[in-house]
Amino acid sequence: MENQPHIHIDRYERRWIALVTVMLGVFFATLLVGSTFFNVNPSGQGGFVNPNLLEETMFASPGLRHLGENRYEAVILAQTWNFVPAQMTVPEGAEVTFYITSRDVIHGFMIEEHNVNFEVIPGHISQARIHFNEAGTYKMLCHQYCGRLHQAMHADIIVEEVEQTVAVSE
Ligand code: CUA
Repeated sequence: MENQPHIHIDRYERRWIALVTVMLGVFFATLLVGSTFFNVNPSGQGGFVNPNLLEETMFASPGLRHLGENRYEAVILAQTWNFVPAQMTVPEGAEVTFYITSRDVIHGFMIEEHNVNFEVIPGHISQARIHFNEAGTYKMLCHQYCGRLHQAMHADIIVEEVEQTVAVSE
């Protein structure tokens, strides 16, 4: 009695399977070598943080801080399914340095019409300096699928118009 099913795999199919297996091995090896020896990290690398001890770091109190002149620091915590804080307001022309990490799973971070696009990974701090030169309301969006309410995960940055002081000479 034969109860061992015999699956016939075509000779060429077998070669392709072998080739793909080898390629995946090579890709995995390049990732390992890159991260181990060449310091290849997710974009916007701004350091590391223990995601289980966030209350002992700057992420204990996320928010916007004024650094002077028109410079700000925005510490943002990404979690299922929102960003903390949910809204920030800066004046036109502001230069904002963002520090972002995740408390749980991998999220994404981008700001409409601005040059920033991260994967937000637990344990990593993503950092970017962005100038907001035009007044308006811009969405900060999670663009990495992170679960049931991923599509609801966004926050606003409001850039307020600065009134021009016109010097009038009489
Ligand atoms: Cu967070 Cu999608």
